[in-house]
Parts: sequence; structure tokens; C-alpha cells
Amino acid sequence: MKFLWGVATSSHQIEGGNSANDWWAWELAGNIESGEVSGSATDHRNRFEEDLRNAASLGLNTYRFSIEWSRLEPFEGHWDQEAFDWYGRIISLCEQLGLMPMVTLHHFTLPKWLADKGGVTYEHFADRFKGYVRKVALTFGSRVPLWCTVNEPMLLVIGAYMGAIMPPARSNPKQVAAGHRGMLKAHVVAYDTLHKTITHREGPWKDVPLQVGFAHNMIDFQPLHRFSVREWLMAKVFHRYYNMAWLRAVTGRRQNFGVWFVLPKPRQVWAARGRKTVDFIGINYYMKAYPCWGPQKEEGAQFVQFHNLPLGIRFSRAQDKVSDLGWPIHPRGLGKMIRLVARFGLPIYVTENGVADSRDQFRAQFIQDHVSEIARARSRGADVRGYYHWSLLDNFEWIKGFGPRFGLWAVDYSTKERTPRASTQVYAQIVKRGDPAPDRDVSF
Ligand code: BGC
Repeated sequence: MKFLWGVATSSHQIEGGNSANDWWAWELAGNIESGEVSGSATDHRNRFEEDLRNAASLGLNTYRFSIEWSRLEPFEGHWDQEAFDWYGRIISLCEQLGLMPMVTLHHFTLPKWLADKGGVTYEHFADRFKGYVRKVALTFGSRVPLWCTVNEPMLLVIGAYMGAIMPPARSNPKQVAAGHRGMLKAHVVAYDTLHKTITHREGPWKDVPLQVGFAHNMIDFQPLHRFSVREWLMAKVFHRYYNMAWLRAVTGRRQNFGVWFVLPKPRQVWAARGRKTVDFIGINYYMKAYPCWGPQKEEGAQFVQFHNLPLGIRFSRAQDKVSDLGWPIHPRGLGKMIRLVARFGLPIYVTENGVADSRDQFRAQFIQDHVSEIARARSRGADVRGYYHWSLLDNFEWIKGFGPRFGLWAVDYSTKERTPRASTQVYAQIVKRGDPAPDRDVSF
């Protein structure tokens, strides 16, 4: 099997008209920094054919997208056949264009009816998730080889229950613990349900073994000052919690979602103990960051307060090359994260990697440098099987609104017209060259 080259998207960020989920309600309440709402987004709902053809025109052979639960089940127990049909058309088009689908079942949004009961902290969250996953598996399972149960559970739980940058925007350590437990239970239930339900395979990828994993946001935490012991220690603590806790939990190791004096430990999820509940690990990698103590005086420093402690994260230093969002561009961090994940002995996909760059001044180099890191890691034995660029097209960047431009294709939001950025051609050339490591096909 050839190395997988793809792009990634998520339902709420591109489809438009997703008004039955928690984000929509939150947007309407004025929580998006720019005051925008997702509304018709990129109108992918009507323009998916053009979008998928654009992806295929780069020579890609895979596409990662998410299914919007709130479209399939807008009211509890009420399933919308039209929504199933629409996703069926996406998968058919993938088959026609040779884009192996990787389907994400949960990418930040939840049906509003479920969010109202407590969302991922609701005691029956995993049961409800199971019902949805089973329906999806029965409908599409035979044709989809690659699955992500959840996208970035660590970021979601912190964003929703600590950092207040996602609905329900709480700041409550106990709910952080409950959120991790709920997400881990849901992940395990989805892993088992997919494997149990998908017993028959058909279509162009029927011989590709079913692989279920999750997409994990990873950050290369570094001390702001190289010789500061306190910052070095803080970088370690952030790393252990943010990067490692989920990896350990899904590989059957000790579940440790607590941080001394800051976050209480949730109860263990028994179903995840002592066994692997992933067939691969997806890495979403964007940047490095600097944990720090106390507000920073330096001009331009972004500081995020961590709960009520003077603990924060600086996203960049003056000398860093940064994206439009102020995130430092740091390809070596990807190599580092891959090497770390490779220790778990599982196949790896880079399920997201991209840059907010409206003028397209960094994107081409960004892709080349990150792909080189993959090549290097592969030549040292890491089993990296695919790369998904974030994103195919500009989209609704959550709390930041439509400002940040992550797309290979630029979107004019007034006409919804798509225009390829120059970097599309660079990505197409990389794909054509067959890097990383042209001499090594990955074997499934
Ligand atoms: C998320 C995407 C998001 C991207 C850029 C990832 O954390 O999965 O939904 O658009 O980062 O911020």
C-alpha cells in the first residue's frame, strides 16, 4: 500500500447550516471573538463535489472528514435519512476519485439535545455515542477502512471545561476530570462498536484492514528560558499531561489525567485498562509553546491564564517565525512527536498539520519542512503511513471565526468562490515525488 497523502476537514467548519449543535447556539450567544457565526460556512454542503475534485486534482489518495452527529440525529432518537444520504454521496465520490476515506466521528461539536444534558460529562454520554456510532457503522462501515473515534479529546476537554474557549465554556477542574472520563469511555465504546459492527467490507478498499484510532493534538512544550529550572519543569508537566495522558490511556497503560494541585484525577475507565483501544495513533501537530509563570511583560506576548493560577502559555518569542495566529512555525517538533509516539509500537498518521497564512507566504515551505521530518522519522523506523494537510479549504476556525486562513484553497465568503493558493502546486509536486522516503511503501 502506498503512503497516504491527503487533506483533512471537519463538518462544522465547512458544511454550513449546522444549526442543531452546541456550537451554533454558542455562536449565536455572541461567543466568537469576531462576532461571526458559522452560518453557511463555505457552503460545502452544496459544493462538496467541487471540493473533493479539487483535492483529487493534487494527486491525493485519501481524505479525512468528520460526520456531524447533530445532522444525523438532530433530536434524540430521531434519525434524518437525508443526512445519511448526503454522507453516503461523499463516500461514493471518494470512491470514484480514489480518495480513501478516514472518517472522524466526533470533531468538537455535539447535538444540542445532548449538550443540554451535560455533553461529554453527562453520565450516559458514552451510551448515546454508542448508538450513533452503531448507526454510522451499519450504514457506511463496509466502505470505510480508516476511523478516528474522536478529534483532540485533550484540547476539547480543556477548551470546554478549563479555558472556556469552547461550549459550554466552564472553568471547573472537577468537570475537566469528568470530561476526560466521558471522552475516554466514548472512545473505547466507539472502538469496540466499530470492530464488532463492521463484519463485511466492500468497495475499492475492501482489502485494507479496518483501522480505528483517534486524532491527538500534540504540542512541543519548551522552557521559555533555556536555563530556567522552573520553566523546564513546567514544560515537563505540561508535556506529561497534554501529550502523554491520552496516549497512555488508549494503549492500556496507567490512566493519569490528574495534575498535582491543579486537576483532580477522574476515576479509571475499566474498559480501557490493560489493553490497546487503538489500531493507530493520529497526530495533529501545529506548533511549539512555552509554559510560563506569571503574566509576561514582553510586547506581543500572548498569555493564557491557566484556571486561577498564574500559570500560562506563551505561544511565541520575539525571534520565532509565526503564523497569522501567532503560532510559532517549528517543524522539528513534529519529528520529536512522531519519535515519541513511535515508542508505542503502533502505526501513525499525521492526521492534521497546517498553518494560518492568508498571504500564502509560509505554507509551501511549511509543508516541505514538515514532510521532511516525516521522512526522517520514517527512515529511523517510525511507522508513519500518511499525512493529512489541514486544510483543503479556508474554514470556520472555531472561536476565531473566519479570519484565520488555513486553506490550500482560498474561500471568498461573499461568493463562496474557491481559488487555489500557489502552495497547492508545491503540495501536488511533493505528492508526485512520492516523498517521504520514496523507496519505502508502507505495508498494512
Ligand atoms: C482542530 C481543527 C482546527 C485546527 C486549527 C485543530 O486543533 O482539529 O478543527 O481548525 O486545529 O486550529
